[in-house]
Amino acid sequence: MNILLAGGSGFLGRNIAAVIADAGHQITNVSRSHGVDFARMLAAEDWLSHLAGIDVVINCVGIIGETGAQRFEPLHTLAPAALFRACQQAGVRRVIQISALGADESAFSSYHLSKRAADDVLRSLDLDWFVLRPSLIYGLGGKSAGLFMRMASMPMISVIGDGQQQLQPIHISDVVATVMQCLVSTKTRQTLDIVGNETVTFEEWLQWMRNAQGLPRARVIHIPFAIAMFMAHLLGRFYPMMQPQNLRMLQAGYWADVKPLARFLGRMPQTIEASLFFLDAVCEGRLS
Ligand SMILES: NC(=O)c1ccc[n+]([C@@H]2O[C@H](COP(=O)([O-])OP(=O)(O)OC[C@H]3O[C@@H](n4cnc5c(N)ncnc54)[C@H](OP(=O)(O)O)[C@@H]3O)[C@@H](O)[C@H]2O)c1
Repeated sequence: MNILLAGGSGFLGRNIAAVIADAGHQITNVSRSHGVDFARMLAAEDWLSHLAGIDVVINCVGIIGETGAQRFEPLHTLAPAALFRACQQAGVRRVIQISALGADESAFSSYHLSKRAADDVLRSLDLDWFVLRPSLIYGLGGKSAGLFMRMASMPMISVIGDGQQQLQPIHISDVVATVMQCLVSTKTRQTLDIVGNETVTFEEWLQWMRNAQGLPRARVIHIPFAIAMFMAHLLGRFYPMMQPQNLRMLQAGYWADVKPLARFLGRMPQTIEASLFFLDAVCEGRLS
């Protein structure tokens, strides 16, 4: 297949590209690193020349916080919506949209709302679409996983409030496996929450990350939510991942029913294991 991969230079995109290439498909990459800025691709006409000869579009462009010219509305909503409409015009039937867990009717952050708006456009079109909503993705090279790894390696670990926020992290190899299944599945027009098969608390998640780094369990410092939000207001200017709305999303948790994903994959996603933290989708595929 000829696949247009938007966001192929990122963590998820690199992993998808590697596995797709191993499977013998041809990839056309789209990102700023490949000379295409979503902020300038806001009309369906902007996309048509990129879609000649394309069978499938996968969109994994995203930002976790706004900085400078990187804004949620153009990158998460307007450019993807234009791309999806262009697919309909150009006869590209299959579109796989990487959204995020929480981009549903409960969404409150501009991150989630901007993703959901694009998801809604895709769901309204006569295409073979998939909307995939991953939980926290872990594995070698992930930005948020890397940040949590560094937090976990401190002599004491800091958690927000009671640290009991519920998370269902998913390994990168399972996200890529889901995308691969979307390439061939006849069960199209699906929105799927991409979650792991275990729910852990934020505190346990950081302890898992210590374990993966060969460190013993650490004492825990509980930072009251109001103080954490105050710090996020200061630090978020420099580190988009630490912006206040990301803290609020973490506080709400990242969990969902795993059964629909298990049915789609024909197996359960991976159980958390220390070794998985240092594997990408290609390594994991070769080991399993
Ligand atoms: N990682 C997670 O835990 C997680 C969880 C849930 C959902 N997601 C979603 O999954 C997708 C991929 O996440 P990721 O972790 O792979 O993120 P990432 O590593 O930050 O990659 C983001 C991708 O978006 C591209 N991009 C950013 N701004 C762009 C622009 N203006 N124009 C064109 N391309 C642009 C980047 O390429 P350039 O910088 O080269 O432009 C890169 O390829 C995102 O939509 C994210 O919201 C991720």
